[in-house]
Amino acid sequence: MKPLLKTSELESEPVVGRFYKVPCIRHFWMNYGSFGCRERKLWVPVLLPAHRDPDLLKAEPGPHYHFDVRFMSHRAADLFCFTWEHKDDLQSWRRLMTNIMWEFSEERAMGYRFKIKWKRRKCLRSMPPFPLNVRNNRNSQNPVKRSRVSQILESQFIGRRVCSNRLVCPHRGISLRGLPVQADGSIICPGHGLKICTERMQVVYREDEAIKEAL
Ligand code: FES
Repeated sequence: MKPLLKTSELESEPVVGRFYKVPCIRHFWMNYGSFGCRERKLWVPVLLPAHRDPDLLKAEPGPHYHFDVRFMSHRAADLFCFTWEHKDDLQSWRRLMTNIMWEFSEERAMGYRFKIKWKRRKCLRSMPPFPLNVRNNRNSQNPVKRSRVSQILESQFIGRRVCSNRLVCPHRGISLRGLPVQADGSIICPGHGLKICTERMQVVYREDEAIKEAL
């Protein structure tokens, strides 16, 4: 049997329904029920590498990972998406992309570290485009604005070259392999949403047009 392809080796989009080797980290939580407290564990697919975002976040308890929602089950999503209103609609998965998993400094001090393990996971969906903003209240009539994160990143990275051999995002080095190519030939980084033109291999501006389909 052929060994499974790792997500870091993808040359094109993973096929929905096929299995791949995906980096996962084990999430622990305590479940309090009538029979006492039980420890629960779940392997969660993530995008490498772990990183800090001092440019984007005011307070950071430690390094964090972003989810690889292509391989994420509903069970895992239930744990992290607090506004999981419409299961399996595209907007819910895009919203989940803006959540992260922390490695808290207190836990690191106690010797606990997230350990990466490459697990066999089925591809469940194509990577959705990272949202330009998230609307907390879906019924709000206020106009959706470009997020602060997008503004900060674009002010620093527009025009930055992307090495076509390594194919990683110039911001935090998240892999750009196996991502869907948009109608205009660009790809959107699943980390924080930078847009990369695959023809010029350069970071380009995401038009405000895209905000209309933001959450
Ligand atoms: S890693 Fe941050 S935009 Fe790509």
